[in-house]
Amino acid sequence: MGVVCPLNMAFSGNMIGLFLRKFSRAAEYVALKGKRSLSDDGRYVSLVREALRDPKVFARFKRHPDYRAILEHVTEDYGRQYLELVRKNDPSLLARLEEFKENDQLGDPILSRYPEVGEISPSTLRYVYVASELRRLFGQDLGARVAEIGIGYGGQLLVNDKVFRYGEAHLFDLPPVLELTSRCLEAHVMRGAYQTMTLNQHPGDKDYDLVMSNYAFSELPVELQLAYVRKILSRSKRGYLTMNSGRPGNPFAGDHLTLERLRELLPPFEVFEEVPSTPFRNYVIVWGRQNPSGDSL
Ligand SMILES: C[S@@+](CC[C@H](N)C(=O)[O-])C[C@H]1O[C@@H](n2cnc3c(N)ncnc32)[C@H](O)[C@@H]1O
Repeated sequence: MGVVCPLNMAFSGNMIGLFLRKFSRAAEYVALKGKRSLSDDGRYVSLVREALRDPKVFARFKRHPDYRAILEHVTEDYGRQYLELVRKNDPSLLARLEEFKENDQLGDPILSRYPEVGEISPSTLRYVYVASELRRLFGQDLGARVAEIGIGYGGQLLVNDKVFRYGEAHLFDLPPVLELTSRCLEAHVMRGAYQTMTLNQHPGDKDYDLVMSNYAFSELPVELQLAYVRKILSRSKRGYLTMNSGRPGNPFAGDHLTLERLRELLPPFEVFEEVPSTPFRNYVIVWGRQNPSGDSL
């Protein structure tokens, strides 16, 4: 039988405390149960708050498992497919990949290596692909006022800022996520302007030239989706929404508006299958595009 040393006990108690704090943070939510988005899952908000408090966690937040459960999980193979789509859509953007790699300079994302491109986060490639789609659908000028709902850390805006003319972007998300986004965006010099706000802080008195939301509006519960429709979506001339709920076969079923209900609530829109295709039947809602050509579903 070994000797029980009080010093060792105190030391190991301390270590266990540290271990527990590091690996099992208490769940933290922003919204009440029933009013939460799928990403307000307890772990994500807790990690974002920790990244805001602790520079060591901020330095690597993009590769933390609790963050990657929500963002930064595009695989190397999908990254390759996004590259091919950008090559097809808008080869001029490929020539600017070095500029877009700026998005990978914070948070230590997991990078993939592609021939002729070098190392880049596959998630950044998805933001470049979305920018190529926005340019194909809406042209070079996004308008004086654009809204983005569910912004991650501002990666899509950072890429858009290099590609488009626009006046100001209104960014909607959860309070700690907005703070993280400002932290990230303020590390850069942007051409346009942005404001961060929660939906509750917004009076709903503004018209928008474009609203976009990728894998975010579709992850909200119906009550919150209806509030976004009333204050933002119905007031926007153009829209681009990547949806992972609302149709049979989508990954998220339950408390989300169906595609049929969205047809009654939003301006008349077209539906496109998400590319690259996945087994999830995700789709993209678009309204107000230039030169509609009848290729939607
Ligand atoms: C799956 S992520 C998508 C992020 C980003 N659009 C992208 O494509 O990388 C979902 C986003 O919705 C945000 N979100 C969660 N609750 C929200 C709310 N109530 N209002 C707006 N955004 C919310 C999350 O913080 C996160 O930024």
